[in-house]
Amino acid sequence: MKPHLLTLLVTAALTGATAQMRAQTPIYLDVNQPIEKRVDDALSRMTTEEKVALLHAQSKFSSAGVKRLGIPEVWCSDGPMGIRDEVKWDEWEQAGWTSDSCVAFPSLTCLAATWNPDMAALYGKSIGEEALYRRKTVLLGPGVNICRTPLNGRTFEYMSEDPFLNSKLVVPYVKSVQQNGVAACVKHFALNNFEINRSSANVIVSDRALREIYLPAFHAAVTEGGAWAIMGSYNLYQKQHCCHNKTLLCDILKGEWKFDGVVISDWGGCHSTDEAVHNGLDLEFGTWTGGTTWGRSNSYENYFLARPYLEGIKSGKYTTAELDDKARRVLRLIFRTTMSGQAKWGSLCSDEHYAAARQIAGEGIVLLKNDRSILPIDASKKPKILVVGENAIKMMTIGGGSTSLKVQRELSPLDGLKNRFGADNVTYARGYVGDTVTSFDGIETGQKLADHRSAQELTDEAVQMAKNVDFVIFVGGMNKSGGQDCEGTDRKSLELPYNQNNVVSEILKVNQNLIFVNIAGSPVTMPWLGQVPAVLQAWYIGSEAGNAIADVLAGDVNPSGRLPFSFPAKLEDVGAHAVGEYVNKPSFKVVDVEYKEDILVGYRWLDTKKIKPLFAFGYGLSYTTFSYGKPSIDKTTMTADGSVTVKVDVTNTGKRAGAEVVQLYIADLKSSLPRPVKELKGFKKVQLNPGETKTVEFTIDSSALSFYNDTKKLWEAEPGAFEAIIGASATDIKGKVKFELK
Ligand code: GLC
Repeated sequence: MKPHLLTLLVTAALTGATAQMRAQTPIYLDVNQPIEKRVDDALSRMTTEEKVALLHAQSKFSSAGVKRLGIPEVWCSDGPMGIRDEVKWDEWEQAGWTSDSCVAFPSLTCLAATWNPDMAALYGKSIGEEALYRRKTVLLGPGVNICRTPLNGRTFEYMSEDPFLNSKLVVPYVKSVQQNGVAACVKHFALNNFEINRSSANVIVSDRALREIYLPAFHAAVTEGGAWAIMGSYNLYQKQHCCHNKTLLCDILKGEWKFDGVVISDWGGCHSTDEAVHNGLDLEFGTWTGGTTWGRSNSYENYFLARPYLEGIKSGKYTTAELDDKARRVLRLIFRTTMSGQAKWGSLCSDEHYAAARQIAGEGIVLLKNDRSILPIDASKKPKILVVGENAIKMMTIGGGSTSLKVQRELSPLDGLKNRFGADNVTYARGYVGDTVTSFDGIETGQKLADHRSAQELTDEAVQMAKNVDFVIFVGGMNKSGGQDCEGTDRKSLELPYNQNNVVSEILKVNQNLIFVNIAGSPVTMPWLGQVPAVLQAWYIGSEAGNAIADVLAGDVNPSGRLPFSFPAKLEDVGAHAVGEYVNKPSFKVVDVEYKEDILVGYRWLDTKKIKPLFAFGYGLSYTTFSYGKPSIDKTTMTADGSVTVKVDVTNTGKRAGAEVVQLYIADLKSSLPRPVKELKGFKKVQLNPGETKTVEFTIDSSALSFYNDTKKLWEAEPGAFEAIIGASATDIKGKVKFELK
């Protein structure tokens, strides 16, 4: 046969074979196919055992893929403020890698304090890139539980006391994480507003409070943010654990909200095969089998959705209907993330990520007091500065529970201040000794915090050194150790710990130029507030803490943060403690916790009871000043399907550029059911140059007027008189305009 004919024949055969091959490329592997077709195709190829294996952990933070089909494992990672170090296969302890240090971004209370959705988007993009680079499928965050009590140990991890503010920030965060092909896992769904008894407390709450206060941020994350994963919470609701709760997961999340993602249990939050099968759990993690320690066989097979489920299917106790739905959801997650085919690889510890951390921190720091305009401190005058306090030197990116991080670096407030004001001009005194622990899950900070001097010696040293400096910067607060803003524990009071108040008072006797920098993630009381000219709420702000704090104190950044939750003057001023139930004793059997304050959480309670807070929701100062014009409204009557637009002019009346957060609250002046005095329904952070005026507009429709009618089981806006209230905080009201809903 002539060669060229042979070549032709072979080529034809190969081409045919290739075409045949291409035709046989499985749909599930074809990134150009619609995800649902890929899911169907993959599911059709899987055995029952392979489907069950998708639904539970195989290690501390991973669950199986389908090896045979080349479908990858699902890798989860904490947390909402940075990507956790790799841990051992079956332990919480770090694995000792040398390539898994990360950037610690500010805590989410700080993000909330920016009142800036653009910062939430920047945050999600940055942390999503770090997660992608570390090959994670799911980022276990953000946490959006409402700050019902300031004692909650995880307040620092969450955002605010207001559902509208949480909703407006969680959406851009989720979207920009997921643009990296990493799933956000919004948590903890739902009603996890305390840490004590978190696995045994059965929350009793009205449908109105559930729908108006505790669910909106999750609803927004799912229906607007398109969250691909939700984490069930440890606690119970209607006597059922939230990780397999029919009302929350089946009726509301997957039913009403049409959530098509994966419900992941909190680690150890699953307690029943039956409930997990029927009540909407898709992926079980952290069940307390102690990893491979139980029995000879791999104890992951003991998980509720492992062998017990497989045996139940084989015995006919369970159909494969739920199994296929769960497997679909996990496959959908995989095709949305690791198998999406998108050409992105993320980045880790980049300059951009440090810059983002610093910018978010700088926008979230809240200036609470600035008498005599003592701030900013003019570095050009080379002032002598004494820095006091353990929080000026203690690394804060470690500890606090599952948000603990192994950072590439963390600049302390002391070092940030030395860099900015000159090391020769800055001295340091410990002032007090708090928590000298320097490790978490095997991560060592390398710091030596032990100091055996007595409280009196420490105080005397600080007072002595304070006598001949121009400024004292006291960097105190809490430190994410047990009972001091830490997962698994709640605080015992609002007081600052470790004798700090006494040290402040003693220093004030010799130097009144004291600036208190509060590094904490939840409200504290300040008995010395009247004598201290300046207070900064600096949160836990991550790797760039020292720079961000110095930026604000030196005036390189004009603070524009606003409080995301009220600072109550005393605990009894909080609805949860005035009338609500808050169980502060450990209980291993189920204990009811009734949210009797109902919808009156945070400023809603303070307004209704006419209680003055120490600092109000939405409050924060600037290095400049602002004035407001009279609010106007485009029409005094809104129709049910119409809208109204409220306008207000804001002017920068000071000498330097700054940002103001204009807040819109709505008051329902006559309602058939009790409602809060006012509720946040709009906010805009507006940048203004000196002398500049901008018109801020809010267009609202009836959804901003609605409440959840729990007898009719629907949201409704009742016709009648309303008021649009413009405020610079929940107590600093600048103007009101009335309008009618027809
Ligand atoms: C923890 C936390 C949860 C975290 C998970 C994994 O107990 O409740 O937020 O993501 O377990 O560490």
